[in-house]
Amino acid sequence: MPSSTKAFIAMQKLVDETGQGAIVDLGSGWGSFVIPMAKSNPQRQVVGYELSLLPWLTSVMQKNILGLDNLTLHRKNFYQACLPEAAVLVCYLYPAAMNKIANKLTSEQPKIDFLISNNFALPSLQPSKVVKIDDFYKSPIYLYKINQQT
Ligand SMILES: C[S@@+](CC[C@H](N)C(=O)[O-])C[C@H]1O[C@@H](n2cnc3c(N)ncnc32)[C@H](O)[C@@H]1O
Repeated sequence: MPSSTKAFIAMQKLVDETGQGAIVDLGSGWGSFVIPMAKSNPQRQVVGYELSLLPWLTSVMQKNILGLDNLTLHRKNFYQACLPEAAVLVCYLYPAAMNKIANKLTSEQPKIDFLISNNFALPSLQPSKVVKIDDFYKSPIYLYKINQQT
């Protein structure tokens, strides 16, 4: 399920606060986050990791049609990936995944400045910002400063 339009807009505003480094989507799905991010940020590298074949193929086709040279789409389990140096990781996953991501960040110490998570918090880290989107559930979007806390 892709991020809602309201969640996407809130995440995009937070991404704009993370400088000019790479944007990495952990679970890029059909490309509904990475494609518009790569289009609207041609000066930034955008990277997606996606396991499922059909969503990944669809996002690769969109990338090719739109000629998005700043977008790299890996068909790969991001837990097993050596994460690139990045300004910001973005994700919309589920609670157990947030535990695994926290463990990966702690054990591997990748050069990541921020993490933005749609709806699900990282365990035991304090977000530097929480945006509540204007939907029925007042769903939270969390922004974490990673290098200061792991
Ligand atoms: C809820 S969708 C979010 C899509 C997009 N990031 C967005 O915000 O619209 C989560 C995606 O993560 C993918 N995913 C879950 N675990 C993964 C893993 N370990 N490695 C790669 N992709 C994964 C799922 O296949 C799914 O497409």
